[in-house]
Amino acid sequence: MRSSLSLGGFASLLLFSLFNLTVGRPIYPLPSKQDNKVKQPLQTSRPYNIAHRGSNGEIPEETVAAYMRAIEEGADFIETDILASKDGSLICFHDVTLDDTTDIAKHKEFADRKRTYEVQGSNITGYFVVDFTLDELKSLRVRQRYPFRDQQYNGKFSIITFEEFIAIALDANRIVGIYPEIKNPVFINQHVKWPHGKKFEDKFVGLLLKYGYKGAYMSENWLRQPVFIQSFAPTSLVHISNMTDSPKIFLIDDFNTPTQDTNQSYWEITSDSFLEYIRNYVVGIGPWKDTIVPPVNNRLTTPSDLVDRAHAHNLQVHPYTYRNENSFLHFDFHQDPYSEYGYWINKIGVDGLFTDFTGSLHKYQEWAAASATDEKSAYGLLHKIARMISSYD
Ligand SMILES: *[C@@H]1O[C@H](CO)[C@@H](O)[C@H](O)[C@H]1NC(C)=O
Ligand SMILES: *[C@@H]1O[C@H](CO)[C@@H](O)[C@H](O)[C@H]1NC(C)=O
Ligand SMILES: *[C@@H]1O[C@H](CO)[C@@H](O)[C@H](O)[C@H]1NC(C)=O
Repeated sequence: MRSSLSLGGFASLLLFSLFNLTVGRPIYPLPSKQDNKVKQPLQTSRPYNIAHRGSNGEIPEETVAAYMRAIEEGADFIETDILASKDGSLICFHDVTLDDTTDIAKHKEFADRKRTYEVQGSNITGYFVVDFTLDELKSLRVRQRYPFRDQQYNGKFSIITFEEFIAIALDANRIVGIYPEIKNPVFINQHVKWPHGKKFEDKFVGLLLKYGYKGAYMSENWLRQPVFIQSFAPTSLVHISNMTDSPKIFLIDDFNTPTQDTNQSYWEITSDSFLEYIRNYVVGIGPWKDTIVPPVNNRLTTPSDLVDRAHAHNLQVHPYTYRNENSFLHFDFHQDPYSEYGYWINKIGVDGLFTDFTGSLHKYQEWAAASATDEKSAYGLLHKIARMISSYD
């Protein structure tokens, strides 16, 4: 009995050490008020780990807890969608309606706020963010979007403002970038009015500048407070280009979705002539990954040349969205998220990935870095030289 007991004790100690080994990274204490100069810098040697709506695979999207978890798990950037309340505050929220990811249905006091508005060419009915003041939005609680994900955090967290989101990134004890989207700008500018004729985009850039986000990609300022501004609307990106030199990413929707502002088709905005035009305003594109490698019957087909053509225009490519669940993984990946990351990073050669599971992407990248062979390093060096030559061009 005694020896088997101690054997059991040894086994659990071994399991404990193994667990710590597989985690392989310190849990960062948060938040921290350390000066950015002494913080661990942003990694810039491998594709960016962009925490899509925070670590929303685990915790309800765009909440403080989801962002803190993403930072703890190794995100390079925390990503968010910016919308506006009725009284003009900028908030972090994805949908124009509150129905799918909050407890609005339980709030009898708001029962008369249901409306139908036209959004990007279709009529949508629900409780719209733009019909609620910030105080009212703060009285709601966020819940998990997908029924197959952890529901235990439903009702625990509130909607946060853009300023609160910025504070989370600035408070992290290593340098963590932000990746905010100017969401539905046409709709927001129709429904929310600011004093002195200011537009949604002006308020958005104003807040970034107020908190010190400025400077071209890889400049000293940028490395201290990294940011990518993203939008599906070319006119928003062009409009803000005179207000900030922060790097911008042009998002590209599905094949059949025209741009919300200029009504241009997928084929038009991915043409060489459009890439040549938009590169004056942006440092990269953010396409839906299934438009780069279109699946048929849930199996990958031949990749398009979009990534190569974007790189030829010196544009980065940050596709969205990587998700661990079997229902999202194409059959070619054998239900293994590492296999999907390996394909996109090594075969397709993307420069950043929007993921719902920051922890998985981080562990993949740590594992890949540790197991890189000489051949891979030589390949990496060649890739680097090729990129230096193309940027010198
Ligand atoms: C939305 O509804 C309004 C009012 O019923 C209608 O006039 C409009 O054509 C509809 N728009 C779309 C895109 O269906
Ligand atoms: C930006 O500023 C330049 C120089 O002042 C001007 O020529 C250009 O039209 C402006 N562009 C936009 C989009 O406002
Ligand atoms: C957008 O473009 C399509 C295709 O050219 C056209 O059929 C449609 O009427 C346009 N919509 C708007 C709102 O201009």
